[in-house]
Amino acid sequence: MSTLGIPAPVRRWRDAVLPQSRALPAERSAPATLRVRSVTKTFHGAGGLVTALDDVSVEVQPGEFVCLVGPSGCGKSTLLNLIAGLDHPSQGQLMLGGQAIERPGADRVVMFQEPALFPWLNVRDNVAFGLTLSGMRRAQRYARAEQYLELVGLGQFGRAWVHELSGGMKGRVALARALVLDPRVLLMDEPFAALDAQTRDRLLLELQRIWLETGKTIVFVTHNVREAAVLANRVLVFSARPGRIKAEIHIDVPRPRELKSPEMLAAANRISAELESEVTISEEQEMATATARNFASHGLLWRL
Ligand SMILES: Nc1ncnc2c1ncn2[C@@H]1O[C@H](COP(=O)(O)OP(=O)(O)O)[C@@H](O)[C@H]1O
Ligand SMILES: [Mg+2]
Repeated sequence: MSTLGIPAPVRRWRDAVLPQSRALPAERSAPATLRVRSVTKTFHGAGGLVTALDDVSVEVQPGEFVCLVGPSGCGKSTLLNLIAGLDHPSQGQLMLGGQAIERPGADRVVMFQEPALFPWLNVRDNVAFGLTLSGMRRAQRYARAEQYLELVGLGQFGRAWVHELSGGMKGRVALARALVLDPRVLLMDEPFAALDAQTRDRLLLELQRIWLETGKTIVFVTHNVREAAVLANRVLVFSARPGRIKAEIHIDVPRPRELKSPEMLAAANRISAELESEVTISEEQEMATATARNFASHGLLWRL
């Protein structure tokens, strides 16, 4: 199929999700441990070599909710993309259920910040779309789509069009579309970051409820400590670039958790205590890069 005319977020979703929908649900959903072993990732950027991740090792058990927290540019999305199989590590290895991760697979579904829904399909067809290639019959696809729309609180909206939905509802559809594929691991990259604060808070609590109901393994990237505190069993705090795991914080507050309880505030403060110095370092790095760029362009002007 030509990629001309397909918006980048839709293309990204298509490349990440469609290959995943070919496998049978049973293969996708069997519990499996995710292992990231001594992973380093370097990029050739405009300003030279960038080490995004440096010797990162993580193990995620089936049913865990793990949040990755760190300053902007510390390699969180890079790690998620490596787990998704959208990119390869420069060194180290990633495994799921004893199988090396080498490409996008049926067992890992990614949810990005932009819901990237198909505007020419209604809500139910958006959710059912990923099941098309699994060979499932239409009636069954629709039944599953309805079941997951119910789960995300949109049972009445299957026939609505994407343009009729609020930002929060689009987020719910994107979540249903990911869950309907029944992946072993759900990867979420700041999925609610673009939403207003009230909508985001509601969706956080909804995600907590859905995780409690489904027992999915979730790896969730955020730079928001409150989000991590309410959602995670375990928070991995990343250092400023090159990203390394600086601290591991277990959140043992019973569920369902409330956003404003004193226990949540204390948990968020524990995460902040580890994160703050890294954010400062990251800001200094960005200032230094901007200054160097500024000097370089002035140097160029003087030579002209
Ligand atoms: N494809 C790429 N090419 C060059 N540099 C990249 C690429 N992807 C990420 N980077 C760089 O790697 C670092 C980590 O990026 P990223 O993982 O997106 O950070 P985060 O998600 O934590 O904000 C950044 O410095 C970013 O500019
Ligand atoms: Mg990112």
